[in-house]
Amino acid sequence: MNDSIKDIIFTEEMIQKRVAELGAELTKDYAGKSLLIIGVLKGCFMFLADLVRHINLDCEIRFLTASSYGFSSVSSGKVNIDGDIDFDVEGKDVIIIEDILDSGITLTALRAFVAKHKPASLKICALLDKPERRQLPITADYLGYECPNEFVVGYGLDYAERYRNLPFVASLKPEVYS
Ligand code: IMP
Ligand code: MG
Repeated sequence: MNDSIKDIIFTEEMIQKRVAELGAELTKDYAGKSLLIIGVLKGCFMFLADLVRHINLDCEIRFLTASSYGFSSVSSGKVNIDGDIDFDVEGKDVIIIEDILDSGITLTALRAFVAKHKPASLKICALLDKPERRQLPITADYLGYECPNEFVVGYGLDYAERYRNLPFVASLKPEVYS
C-alpha cells in the first residue's frame, strides 16, 4: 500500500497534537454545556474517535451519512444525505464534525439540513480545509490544518474507499488514479 503514497502531508504526530488542541478548545468554549456532536460519515470516523476523547464535556454523539464523490476524486456537485434526522436537535448546541472542507458543497447542504431542526447553536469542526477549492462561502469554526490543493487520503479520508486506515494524511502517486 505504501507504494501508492507520494508524500506524507500531515504526520500522525502532527494530527494527534492538533486534535488534542481542538478537543481542549471545544472543552473550554462549551464549558458548562452539553454538546450534540454530529459526525459526517464516512470520512470523519477516525478524526471524531480521536477528538471526542479530548472533549471533557457531556456529549451526545450521532452520525449522518453524506456522499458526493462516488468512486471518483472529483466532486459530482450533488450531495446525498442518507435518511432524515431521527434524533432531537431543537435547542441543542450542535457541532458538525467533517474530515475535509473542499468545494464546501457537502457542508453547506448539511448545515442547512441540520439548521432546519432549530439547534440553539450550530458550528463546524473540520480536520482539513482546502480554501482554494471553495465554490460556496463556508468556513470551519474549528479547523485542524489548512491543506494544500491536492487530493489526499488517510486518517479516514479515502480514494475509492481505500486508504482510510492510514494514521497520517498523504497524497497519492498519479498512477493510482489511472
Ligand atoms: P466538498 O463538498 O467538495 O466540500 O467535499 C467534501 C467531501 O469530499 C469530504 O467530506 C470528503 O469526503 C471528500 N473530499 C474532498 N476532498 C478530498 C480529498 O482530498 N480526499 C478525500 N476526500 C475528499
Ligand atoms: Mg466524505
